[in-house]
Amino acid sequence: MLGLLPWAVNTRLPLIDLHRHLDGSIRLETILDLGRRHNIPLPAWTPAELRPHVVVTEPHAGLVEFLAKFQWMIAVLADYDACRRVAYENVEDAAREGIRYIELRFSPCFMASHHHLDPSQVVEAVIEGARQGEADFGVRVNLIGILTRTFGPGLARKELLALLDHKEHLVALDLAGDEASKPAGLFVEHFKEGRDAGWQITVHAGEAAGAASIVEAVEKLGATRIGHAVRAVDDPSVMAMLRERRIGIEANLTSNVQTSTVPNLASHPLRQFLAEGLLACINTDDPGISGIDLPHELDVAAPAAGLTPEDVDQMLRNAWEMAFLGEDEKHSLISS
Ligand code: ADE
Ligand code: ZN
Repeated sequence: MLGLLPWAVNTRLPLIDLHRHLDGSIRLETILDLGRRHNIPLPAWTPAELRPHVVVTEPHAGLVEFLAKFQWMIAVLADYDACRRVAYENVEDAAREGIRYIELRFSPCFMASHHHLDPSQVVEAVIEGARQGEADFGVRVNLIGILTRTFGPGLARKELLALLDHKEHLVALDLAGDEASKPAGLFVEHFKEGRDAGWQITVHAGEAAGAASIVEAVEKLGATRIGHAVRAVDDPSVMAMLRERRIGIEANLTSNVQTSTVPNLASHPLRQFLAEGLLACINTDDPGISGIDLPHELDVAAPAAGLTPEDVDQMLRNAWEMAFLGEDEKHSLISS
């Protein structure tokens, strides 16, 4: 397949981020502004003082501890305007990073949780903000709906229905949250309905649970891409499955250190994934929580993980191949 791609004609590789949570990517200034507007008691009132409450600097004990950092971002989502605004600003931030195509994902029930918003109206607001940002900043944007597994299958059904209300505006369905205690098998019906709706499937797996969780995501939920997939490295048969089926791996380097999924960047398996011919690319996960952006991940985190400039170029090509875009859209991304 790659042989048909027009890279040989000296194409500049577009920057692409396929795995970014827009609800983990809210500016400190916006948290403060929304906090003031809605009289929300924040722990600090300047960006410098708020930063340690929101941005992770040291590794956390695990994923669940890391996810607790989202508290202030979600606390300020007091109405649908706030949801629209953060979606819009996510696109503006992507443009500033030089990103040409981004897939932004979000969990409507998580975003709705603090102020008891209607999840379907949250989805509508996010779509409006992202579309306006796309028009204003010239970044191509696709949206991915998340089912937050932490809430269990019952609330995930409510979340699915909110997403299905707007199904033509979303390209894919994801499963995120507490992987260790809520296995993919609990969500088989939800993902069947998502596939029936015409969505692509990507699932967080092999981050806070083992390689078997990746197999479950592929076999039970129909994932064609996996978020993280770090633990694949523990099982040669899972590595072979990912390679043979050309399942895309959405890697997130800094995030994996901060959640203690890996002890440090040097021991991250991404280098091995590429060496063994797996289809993997570099993404940001939650840039507002992690205090990073895509250029940082490509220019600083990737070399620290032992990746060469050629590896980074390969991963930008992989991201293009993995993108949830039609063939024509993919080609217009590199010809414009
Ligand atoms: N939600 C936001 N970031 C996440 C991550 N790294 N894993 C699972 N769920 C998430
Ligand atoms: Zn993620």
